[in-house]
Order: sequence, then C-alpha cells, then structure tokens
Amino acid sequence: MAANQEQKEFFGPIAALIGKWEGDKGMDVSPEKEGDEKSPYFETITIEPIGDATNAGEQTLVVLSYVQVVSRKDTGKVFHHQIGYWYFEKATGDVLYSLTIPRAVTVLARGKATLNGPKTDISVKADAQNKNYGILESTFMSAKASTRSFEMSVSVYENTLSYKMNTGLHIYGRDFAHTDENTLTRRVLAHL
Ligand code: HEM
Repeated sequence: MAANQEQKEFFGPIAALIGKWEGDKGMDVSPEKEGDEKSPYFETITIEPIGDATNAGEQTLVVLSYVQVVSRKDTGKVFHHQIGYWYFEKATGDVLYSLTIPRAVTVLARGKATLNGPKTDISVKADAQNKNYGILESTFMSAKASTRSFEMSVSVYENTLSYKMNTGLHIYGRDFAHTDENTLTRRVLAHL
C-alpha cells in the first residue's frame, strides 16, 4: 500500500509515509519514581490518505491520518495508543504532526521534510511555551506528569520507516527524557 504516482503529486513529501507499517524492534524508556524503565515493544502504524483541507479560503493543507498501536514484548499487551494527522502545506513547506494519547495529552508539532535522493527525512517539534505548536494536557497531568516538549524525527527509505521520539516530561519532581524509537517495514500486499 505504498503511495502511487498520483498520491505522490497530491501529498508531496508526506506521501512517503502512506502504508501499514509493522516493527518489532521498538525501545521505550519511561519514567519510574526512581530511575527509568526500558521496555522493548512491537507496533503497527497505519497511515492513510485523507485529502485536503482549505482554511479561510486561503490555506490548503493535504492530510493523512494515522493510528499507532504499541504493545509490550514481554506481555503482548497494548501499552501505548496514539492517533492523529500528518499535514503538509505546499505554500510554506511546513509539515505538521498532531497526536492524542489516552493519558489526556495532545500535541501539535511543526517541522519540515527533506528529500535526500530516495530518502525522505521529516522532523517536527512542539514546546509547551509555544501557543501554536504546543501541548495541551489535563489538569492532573499538568500537575503530576507534565509534557514540556516533544520532538520526533522520521526517515522513510523504500519500505523501511524509522523514527525517534523524545518527549520531555516533568514527573516525580524532576525532568525526564521519555524516548521511543523503532524501525518498521511497510507491509506490501502480494500481487496475485
Ligand atoms: C511509542 C511511544 C510511547 C510508548 C511506548 C510509551 C510508553 C510509556 C510508558 C510505559 C510509560 C510509563 C507508564 C507507567 O509507569 O505507568 C509512559 C509514561 C508517560 N508517557 Fe509515554 N509512551 C510513548 C509515547 C508518549 C508520547 C508521544 C507522549 C506525549 C507526548 C507520552 C507521554 C507520557 C507521559 C506524560 C507519561 C507519564 C505518566 C506516568 O508515568 O505516570 N508518551 N509512557
């Protein structure tokens, strides 16, 4: 389910993301009261074309949706679930990435895509201080497990996607770099 030529023209650099991706080499580093916990994981990320959105009659965004389902390797249980959109604005070259997770945290991050030959590199970031590309969280999370920053870089080369995320938390009275990374393969449907 990689992008066809028509989708590449329509969605620009984010077309490279379209597909159903699977990977079992994930590593999560998350906060504990004392120290951290490292959890190997497997996951599926499904990224689908949506279409375009016109804002105030002036701005055109092309949009993909995604669902990311992440499971702990030792138990097989889902321990992270994330949904959102990828956006590309041709006029500015901006790439936007939104995410919502079940902890009642939402992020809108901004960045750029770079085409390096056959490779597409995208990086986006958000900061709690930024009014536009920022973070919204519940009152509880804000008081006890606050997300202060978010950064992600993604590279796609043919049917391989790798990403690194760094979520800057303030939890248990200290700053903590909550990180996640994985390499996934696009599941290509066999031709009959
Ligand atoms: C593959 C991606 C991710 C995985 C596998 C993951 C997994 C985890 C795990 C295992 C914990 C510890 C939970 C506990 O101790 O009870 C945690 C904590 C947390 N995560 Fe993530 N996470 C991911 C991405 C994110 C993202 C993108 C955000 C927000 C932008 C986020 C926000 C948080 C917060 C605020 C906590 C602190 C809550 C707590 O420990 O009580 N995570 N995450």
